[in-house]
Amino acid sequence: MRQAGRYMAEYRAVRARYGFLELCKNSEAAAEVTLQPVDRLGVDAAILFADILLIVEPLGVGLEFGKGEGPIIHRPVRREADVANLGPVDVESAVGFVFETVARVKKELAARVPLIGFAGAPFTVASYVVEGGASRDYLHVKRLMYEAPTAWARLMDVLVDATARYLNGQIAAGADAVQVFDSWVGALAPDDYRTYVMPHMKALFAKLTPGVPAIHFGTGTAGLLPLLREAGGDVIGVDWRVDLATAWDAVGHDVAVQGNLEPAVLLAAPAYIRKRAKAVLDAAGGRAGHIFNLGHGIHKETPVEHVKALVDIVHELSDRR
Ligand code: CP3
Repeated sequence: MRQAGRYMAEYRAVRARYGFLELCKNSEAAAEVTLQPVDRLGVDAAILFADILLIVEPLGVGLEFGKGEGPIIHRPVRREADVANLGPVDVESAVGFVFETVARVKKELAARVPLIGFAGAPFTVASYVVEGGASRDYLHVKRLMYEAPTAWARLMDVLVDATARYLNGQIAAGADAVQVFDSWVGALAPDDYRTYVMPHMKALFAKLTPGVPAIHFGTGTAGLLPLLREAGGDVIGVDWRVDLATAWDAVGHDVAVQGNLEPAVLLAAPAYIRKRAKAVLDAAGGRAGHIFNLGHGIHKETPVEHVKALVDIVHELSDRR
């Protein structure tokens, strides 16, 4: 889940002083925001404050975070010629500030809890780069995939290379685990995933520094879970649209799973949150290899005390097992 963010007054206070990209680029402020949920909520891991789109800025596509509209790409990559013009990203110099944030956070955490780094998966990052922002139907992406498969594969290659460097840089700076967000991959038919995405995900996981756990997450993936597992990752993250026990059967019990409380449940009072958190833990059956999490990020309307209550409830219920 995204655990830092606008539902926290502490975050809004820091955010009031910087634009979103400016905040990501200021390692001291980004480290502060990374630690806020650890201090306020008592979560078991810190999640690096950064963004999946930071690696596309150096591609020269014109990234901007508009007020309340989410990300905007001013020069979307739509045609073969646009793809041909993309150079490799010099990740180390382009996003060195992220690695500096990781190092700062690690120092300040002093091993209190582990730090999870992250990146977007090539398909999800490409969805922004090609559509020009958020999308519902991903028609530009799908047209490029179907009509210009060679250009699509080249775009994926550029992103796989940049993403592997981005994640390995975070690992070198001290990240204890990494999460790959393929948030919008659920838009794909299984055969399309297998043809146009899976080979690139396999290439990405193969490039990651060995020995560091990788979490592979997507939403709307109920029909894709065995394919996601085949593509790679030590942990498969699932959203709330699938029952956790069903999801675990689908990916196999020889891999760990993360999830999957419906994030909107946090709008309800703690007694109800408790009931729903227990249902997720029951679905996991107390087996090793379950990481309790939300099925996706925290809505900005969520009362922070409800999130704190959830953390306490999960700690209490899982200690009893
Ligand atoms: O603690 C954390 O989890 C925060 C770190 C984090 C952010 N983005 C900060 C952020 C993480 C893990 C992400 C990942 C991310 N970014 C994803 C994948 C995760 C997911 O939710 O599926 C995606 C798709 C993005 C791209 C992105 N960045 C979008 C679509 C938006 C706008 C969202 C919105 O609510 O308006 C962002 C901005 C963003 N990234 C915010 C945060 C805290 C909100 C920015 C703000 O303060 O205005």
